[in-house]
This record gives sequence, structure tokens and C-alpha cells, in this order.
Amino acid sequence: MIKVLITGGKGQLGQSFQSISNKFVDINISFTDVEDLNICDIDNIRDFISDKDYNYIINCAAYTAVDKAESDKIASLQLNAEAVKNIGIVAKEFNIPVIHISTDYVFDGNSFKPYTENDYAVPSSYYGQTKLLGEKYLLEEQPNSIIIRTAWLYSEFGNNFVKTMIKLGNDRDLLKVVVDQVGSPTYAVDLAEGILNIILKIENKSVNFTPGIYHFSNEGVCSWYDFTINIHQLMGIDCNVLPIESKEYPTAAPRPYYSVLNKTKIKTTYKIEIPYWRFSLEKCLRKLATKN
Ligand SMILES: NC(=O)c1ccc[n+]([C@@H]2O[C@H](COP(=O)([O-])OP(=O)(O)OC[C@H]3O[C@@H](n4cnc5c(N)ncnc54)[C@H](OP(=O)(O)O)[C@@H]3O)[C@@H](O)[C@H]2O)c1
Repeated sequence: MIKVLITGGKGQLGQSFQSISNKFVDINISFTDVEDLNICDIDNIRDFISDKDYNYIINCAAYTAVDKAESDKIASLQLNAEAVKNIGIVAKEFNIPVIHISTDYVFDGNSFKPYTENDYAVPSSYYGQTKLLGEKYLLEEQPNSIIIRTAWLYSEFGNNFVKTMIKLGNDRDLLKVVVDQVGSPTYAVDLAEGILNIILKIENKSVNFTPGIYHFSNEGVCSWYDFTINIHQLMGIDCNVLPIESKEYPTAAPRPYYSVLNKTKIKTTYKIEIPYWRFSLEKCLRKLATKN
């Protein structure tokens, strides 16, 4: 049995892992969140894992309030960078590979072609800076780590853009949504499934464990406006959605205009297939419909 520890297990991605864990009968996952395992406390991490023989640690814990991070700098730095360093230090001591989640916000979004892992990362938000620092710290402390940058995460769990657009679409007749930011919506359950498949493939030796940075999002590209239209169409929501420019919707943290990630490296190294974003959106909306 492969033993995996998940931190931040009550968050959106953590719950996505929980929702599919029973499909992976060869993987035994311990789900933790801050109350059981506070990753800001290195002694807590050391005590927690010392007698458990984990084969992998997947870090889903993070400070994800992008706008709040601009003013709540200490907390975001602590969780997104220093705590990731803690995980790296302890993981190295116990020789456990780490799979850590990072973000498209490490890029400034001024590109015009999908970002590869080799592209220079210059974050324009504080959140992005802390996530980039977390990547650096982790690879320094535990080089046997896989860092997966993802983007535009949504799911039936937690708060996210899809749920917000359903709610606003039902409550209002008119909605204005940004059209000049493009990216790839990513169903968190696809990401969770991708990661567990990678672990299985490594363990059954059909691929080699290859540490480093990888990109994962769903296939395809759209703007937030297109995403909203698709959500409403699939949900049968009748709402007038108007495209607007980013300057008409100011936020505390600047958003990348272009955050499309090139996924060739993860697909070729770990031989995984990634679904098209609209197919995954349909899957998520079906799940949401049965939940309500
Ligand atoms: N959401 C997106 O659109 C997006 C896009 C790109 C990348 N990502 C990355 O994807 C990853 C997962 O994101 P997500 O949306 O699942 O985030 P999330 O829903 O905010 O989940 C983060 C979890 O970490 C927990 N946590 C907070 N402090 C902790 C601590 N000290 N120790 C242990 N756990 C702690 C949180 O608990 P509380 O809720 O109690 O604080 C929460 O359950 C993150 O690394 C994020 O940066 C997200």
C-alpha cells in the first residue's frame, strides 16, 4: 500500500482528493488540515510524520486569498513560503518526496504563448511572489519534489468562480465579466486524479520519478467572460452577461492577462491525459446539480 499524507485537506483541492480517493485502492491517504497538522509549525510536522512511513506528502495547504495577501503580507509569506520550507526540511529528513501545488500567478501574464516551466517567472502580485518563493525554498530543502503549477481552479467544493457565477447569474439580470484575461479553467478533481495517477505510475515503474516544476491545467483556453457564458448555458441560467475590460474591474492584486500554461512536460514525463476544460466543466456542473 502506498501511504500518502495530504496537508490542507479541507480546502478545495484537498476535498477534490477526498472525493476520488476510493477509486485508488492501492493508495492510502491521510487527510489533515491545520487543526491536525499546522504546516507553519515545523515541530508539528516532524512529530506528525515521524512514525508513519509516508511514501509521499502532497501539500494542498496555502494562503489563497489573492487580494487580501496584498495587505496581509506576513500571513501569506508564512504559509506560502516559510511553511513550504518547513515541509521541505522535514521531508528531506525522512526522505519523503513532496508534491506541492503552485500557481500561474508566478508569471506576469504579459506573454502571448503558453508558459513553459523554463519561462522566467516574474509575479506581479504579492501572492505570486510568496508562491514563487515557496517553490524555491522547497527545491532547496527537498530536491526530490514535484511542483505542479495550476490555474483557475474550480470544483464542487469550497468557494470558486463557477459557484459564484451560478449564484450571481441566478440573482441578477445583468452581469459584467472580464474578457481581456485569458487562461485555462482547471477542474480540481482532474488535478487530484492526475496527481494520484502519477504516483501510481511511479510506483508501478511505468514512469520514472522526475523531480522539478510542471504545469497542469485543463486543455483549451478561454476568457473569464467565455467561461461565464458556458457555465450559464450549461446550467440553463438566463442572465445577460456583458464583456468588460480589466480596468473596469479593479482588484487589489493585479491579475495576469495571459495565464495559459504549456503542459507538454507533465504529459510526456508522466504519460497523463488531460481533459478539455468544457468537458470537465460539464462534469463538475453535473456533480453540483446532484449535490443541491
Ligand atoms: N484556487 C485557485 O484558483 C488556484 C489557482 C492556482 C493555484 N492554486 C493553488 O492550489 C492549491 C490548492 O488551492 P485551494 O483552492 O484548494 O486552496 P484552499 O481552498 O484555500 O485550501 C487551502 C487549505 O489550507 C488550509 N490551511 C491554512 N493554513 C494552514 C496551515 N497552517 N496548515 C495546514 N493547512 C492550512 C486551509 O484551511 P483554512 O480554510 O481553515 O484556512 C484550507 O483548508 C494552493 O497551493 C493554491 O495556491 C489555486
